[in-house]
Amino acid sequence: MLDPSRWEGGGRGRRAARVATVGSVGRADHWDDRYGTTAETSLSWFEESPAVSLGLFDELGVTPRDSVVDVGGGASRLVDRLLERGHRDIAVLDVSAVALRDARDRLGGARGVDWIEHDLLTWEPRRRWTVWHDRAVLHFLVDDEDRSSYARLLRRTVEPGGAFVIGGFAEDGPTHCSGLPVRRAGTEELVDLLGDVEVVARRRHVHRNPAGVDQPFDWLAGHLPADGRA
Ligand SMILES: C[S@@+](CC[C@H](N)C(=O)[O-])C[C@H]1O[C@@H](n2cnc3c(N)ncnc32)[C@H](O)[C@@H]1O
Repeated sequence: MLDPSRWEGGGRGRRAARVATVGSVGRADHWDDRYGTTAETSLSWFEESPAVSLGLFDELGVTPRDSVVDVGGGASRLVDRLLERGHRDIAVLDVSAVALRDARDRLGGARGVDWIEHDLLTWEPRRRWTVWHDRAVLHFLVDDEDRSSYARLLRRTVEPGGAFVIGGFAEDGPTHCSGLPVRRAGTEELVDLLGDVEVVARRRHVHRNPAGVDQPFDWLAGHLPADGRA
């Protein structure tokens, strides 16, 4: 029997739970399959309201004048809430075309959103944003090298003095998500990974997934140095 902490609920989640690893080429297929075969509201990471993210944005002093990039944003409703708050410069990056299509369709072609279909590990951003948001994509990067690439990408994607909000499974969280192994991390590990940052907030939040399983997350929010030093 599957460990309930690994069960994703609905559709072909049970099959996906047997997938041990996904290389760069298969990543898009894996995630397209997850989004394409399971109702959005049954996906284990689904949340009606991105309350933790928005609360951390408020603590950081993020305003509608800020530009926001949501990496691994999938079909999340964060973009909906940001548009409601008046943001008009938002990018949602995800490796899954299906997830992005679902979100775009939901929003009915709202202006002010750039949909970027790309694997973040090979993405070369052409501009910078003032706020980086990540809910549950860094934790899929289990190798040191990939995590270092992520940290370097964050630094060249965010404006000097800009903000970041990162949330992923805590050290006592599930070992897998969507059938893939994850690297659980406390906020100290995230600070070590990011290097020279000003930490503004740390938050622990237990996400109850649609199957009723509690998933502890650790969140870190802060600013990059204003002088742009690495
Ligand atoms: C657990 S889901 C979280 C989605 C969204 N952040 C939310 O909170 O609803 C992880 C997301 O990361 C995306 N993803 C996984 N690996 C990725 C990668 N290497 N590059 C870009 N997106 C990736 C998946 O397609 C999926 O949408």
